Amino acid sequence: MKTAKIHHVFVCLFIFSVFSCNQKKEQKVETIPIAQMEIKLDLLDLQAKNRLGKDTVVTIINDPVYHKEKKYKAVSATQLIKNEIDLTKIDPQKTKIVFECMDGYQPEMPLDLFLKSNAFLAFQDIDAPNGSKWVPINKNGNKMIAEPFYIVYESVSENDSRYKWPYNLVRIYLEPLNKSYKELYPSKNKKLETGYTLFQNQCITCHSLNGLGGTMGPELNYPKSVTEYWKENELVDYIVNPSSFRNKVKMPTLGLSKQQSQEIVDYLKYMSDNKNKI
Ligand code: HEC
Repeated sequence: MKTAKIHHVFVCLFIFSVFSCNQKKEQKVETIPIAQMEIKLDLLDLQAKNRLGKDTVVTIINDPVYHKEKKYKAVSATQLIKNEIDLTKIDPQKTKIVFECMDGYQPEMPLDLFLKSNAFLAFQDIDAPNGSKWVPINKNGNKMIAEPFYIVYESVSENDSRYKWPYNLVRIYLEPLNKSYKELYPSKNKKLETGYTLFQNQCITCHSLNGLGGTMGPELNYPKSVTEYWKENELVDYIVNPSSFRNKVKMPTLGLSKQQSQEIVDYLKYMSDNKNKI
């Protein structure tokens, strides 16, 4: 199954080029950027097939999820990617790694940054009580279990927000870095570009608009836009600080200013006039 997808596409491209080369000489396999393909690693599937790699124990001095020193049983995540994906076929500078978590959360980061980072895929917490694999995480009063996998780094500061530490991780995708949702771009009013960019960077990992985006939080545009059932000033305040509205809220406080939140709400109002059936 190694690089099966790439292989498959190559076979298709090959057949295509054989059929088409009579008409179009320039239609060569090499000219088609491999990074435009989506590559997926199903981690549970790889574990079941014993293909995760060699077990090791890692120590994380200041774990950003547990807020203390932690030790995990883990495998090298960078090595796993190198084993499973033929990296000579893609350009890590133009590719992003997307983490799919069980609850629909989908954080992402540039692949080259990830490959340089000495990342590990933790599958068991050494501190876990006998008979269990994980110590529960306490998040805003909710108890969460990190299973099945949690990405950790031995030499990355917990404050470096370029790095993602997803838990409940089930799949890894590689996608082109510049893949953003162009369908959601406010092409009829370019002044809303700031709100669009903020939404792409801060919200789309958890929320969808017209069905495009993450699924941890609710869809915000269809069939009813949040701007249609929230009072505008309260929506702005909610986005700045969700926990001032709801107890045990799962949506994080993202550190946005009121001004930035207003830009997002203006963009969401535009999107409410641009609904697309999913
Ligand atoms: C880590 C995931 C996450 C991120 C990032 C996130 N949200 Fe949320 N959001 C949620 C969840 C989950 C809910 C459902 C309520 C709850 O439990 O917090 C929610 C609820 C909401 C609601 C209320 C929906 C309703 O119908 O009442 C709005 C509006 C909202 N989010 C907007 C945003 C915006 C705008 C951003 C970006 C600035 C954002 N969210 C970023 C997870 C997230």
